[in-house]
Amino acid sequence: MTIKTVGVVGCGLMGSGIAQISAQAGMKVVVREVDTKGLEGGKAKVDRFLSTAVEKGKMSAEEKAAILARITWTTSVPDLKDCDLVVEAITENMKAKRELFAELDKVCPPHTIFGSNTSSLAVGDMAVATQGARRARFVGLHFFNPVPLMKLVEVVRTLETSDEVFDAACAFGAKVGKTVVRAKDTPGFVVNLLLVPYLLDAIRALESGVATKEDIDTGMKLGCGYPMGPLELLDFVGLDTTLFIADIMFDEFKEYRYSAPTMLRRLVAAGRHGRKTKWGFYDYRQPAAK
Ligand code: CAA
Repeated sequence: MTIKTVGVVGCGLMGSGIAQISAQAGMKVVVREVDTKGLEGGKAKVDRFLSTAVEKGKMSAEEKAAILARITWTTSVPDLKDCDLVVEAITENMKAKRELFAELDKVCPPHTIFGSNTSSLAVGDMAVATQGARRARFVGLHFFNPVPLMKLVEVVRTLETSDEVFDAACAFGAKVGKTVVRAKDTPGFVVNLLLVPYLLDAIRALESGVATKEDIDTGMKLGCGYPMGPLELLDFVGLDTTLFIADIMFDEFKEYRYSAPTMLRRLVAAGRHGRKTKWGFYDYRQPAAK
């Protein structure tokens, strides 16, 4: 099947990026948020990225206008009724996701594919909120932050995903310009399965005084050619998000490598969530804090 109209639910960092790349790939996009404040935030993110692209000479002002014209913004779930694919990018909360998918199941036609951008929850556990044949039309579509720049999407199949739906989801990933990695429905899929223990080990190294945070980051950037060091990346992803993912993975696997170090818990409890709160391992506050 060909996906012509894409719904995106939630337009935070991930949802706004998914909406943007879908519109850039020529599809019509309907973005749904709970309130107009959230919608305005999503619109501003897309506008800012496209404006930068125009400033950098990567696209024309006309192209930017055409992309924006393909996106409609709404607070109403029934407005997603004409979508061939709906991608959920709301908070990582199973109950909230199940409620959303149960509502979408009633609103969308039988052919609509449901995708979740979850990074760690089981996609199959969301699919059970829908009825009958829809469960075969469920996939994970895990994009990476920043969505317009990162070249990967993990496409996840549950025990029930049909071949037709999985192929259509992979084709969608390619259409929005990403390289597709296929994964089964296990917490962390491919990337977080390997990335999360690495990030947690970097915190353990800092906790045990192996090196300063700057030297740990420099070591991995220059020693391994990574674009960001692990502690910089933790601040970028969000310490709260990382703790949440680690707890889900530890709960599933019961393995030490997924257990959150004390330092991570204390920083999150103190409200130091990384760049989003302007303070995590590094201090982004301006002017410099006293
Ligand atoms: N429009 C078009 N292109 C743009 C752009 C825009 N608005 N903004 C930036 N770019 C382009 C730049 O022009 C540049 O391209 P060229 O190389 O052709 O010049 C490229 O994007 C990189 O941009 P910058 O030079 O501004 O930024 P950078 O080199 O410092 O890279 C980064 C920024 C891409 C974020 C890089 O630091 C990086 O890859 N970091 C790692 C990010 C990462 O690992 N993300 C995954 C997190 S894990 C996750 O998301 C999963 C999970 O479940 C937790």
